[in-house]
Amino acid sequence: MKAIILKEAGGTENFVITEMPVPVPQKGEVLVKVAAISVNPVDIKTRKGLALYDKLKSDPPIILGWDIAGEVVGVGEDVTSLEEGDEVFGMVNFPGHGKAYAEYVVAQANHLAEIPELISTQEAVAGTLAALTAWQVLVDEAKVQTGEKVLIHAAAGGVGHFAVQIAKYLGAYVIGTASDANYDFVKELGADEFIDYTQGSFEDAVKDVDVVFDIVGGTNPLRSLNVLKEGGRLVAIAGGITDEVKQIANSKKINAWPYLVHSNGDDMEQIAELLEAGTIKSCIFKEYAFEDMAEAHKQSETGKTRGKIVVVL
Ligand SMILES: NC(=O)c1ccc[n+]([C@@H]2O[C@H](COP(=O)([O-])OP(=O)(O)OC[C@H]3O[C@@H](n4cnc5c(N)ncnc54)[C@H](OP(=O)(O)O)[C@@H]3O)[C@@H](O)[C@H]2O)c1
Repeated sequence: MKAIILKEAGGTENFVITEMPVPVPQKGEVLVKVAAISVNPVDIKTRKGLALYDKLKSDPPIILGWDIAGEVVGVGEDVTSLEEGDEVFGMVNFPGHGKAYAEYVVAQANHLAEIPELISTQEAVAGTLAALTAWQVLVDEAKVQTGEKVLIHAAAGGVGHFAVQIAKYLGAYVIGTASDANYDFVKELGADEFIDYTQGSFEDAVKDVDVVFDIVGGTNPLRSLNVLKEGGRLVAIAGGITDEVKQIANSKKINAWPYLVHSNGDDMEQIAELLEAGTIKSCIFKEYAFEDMAEAHKQSETGKTRGKIVVVL
């Protein structure tokens, strides 16, 4: 099979398409013939030697990627939930070595869900790491309740566009930040209010927020403490929560914590149901061929992607 190996940390010139043996599924695992992959900022960070690079380096060769959709073509011992021929999608083995940039991927069966009938492979693969993150943060971590005011930073991106839709599904009043070019997009996702972060401070545009979902990082978590009400929650997924943020949050009686998504087949089932019902939709910004993975990475690095980047095999 073909796989994209990362020779060493650095630029996309370190990608090498290599022939490798097809992996064999072990107990609890299935072999998936990959039809599509989605690319996330963590792929780029890891490629550059950050994020999960050290972990992957200890298990060479390094094959980036975690998001796959495709057909089950092999089933390991003790797998009862899936069988050959099933069309599946999921974020596999995160935060471990997912090895998704390949024609065949071995995955734990309980990291996958079946693709709903009317959902394309591309739409499915777009709804993996990004959708899972939005689901786990809003449902499991922040525990968003009906009627709560939720501010989502980077509402037009991979995670953000699912977060707006999931927060609306949970019955929240949703405010999304993005640049003006994404006004229509974010409103069509269901946001009740839009803040153009390039035209002044979001702190001047919103107050008394119950939950801030920060997908931007930098000074955003600190600044977000100014718009949260007492008892509010701040979940930050890009860059964590500094001691300063923790201290100020404590003094304001705000709960602030970082979060890292993890593979979970039950959560994938929830995403599958929402996609099937049309409650959430994947927006695909651009599709690339497997051979053009470097171009997909360069697009992600612009920081201006609307929705998701998908690679088809
Ligand atoms: N901890 C975790 O579990 C976890 C999981 C997933 C992602 N992440 C992290 O979360 C971050 C975002 O991931 P992603 O997949 O959503 O990325 P992405 O799709 O590349 O995000 C691009 C979007 O960010 C928006 N944006 C950029 N700067 C902004 C700002 N200052 N305010 C508001 N919007 C801004 C852009 O909107 P405009 O074009 O309108 O500027 C664009 O639509 C990355 O750092 C990623 O590594 C963490």
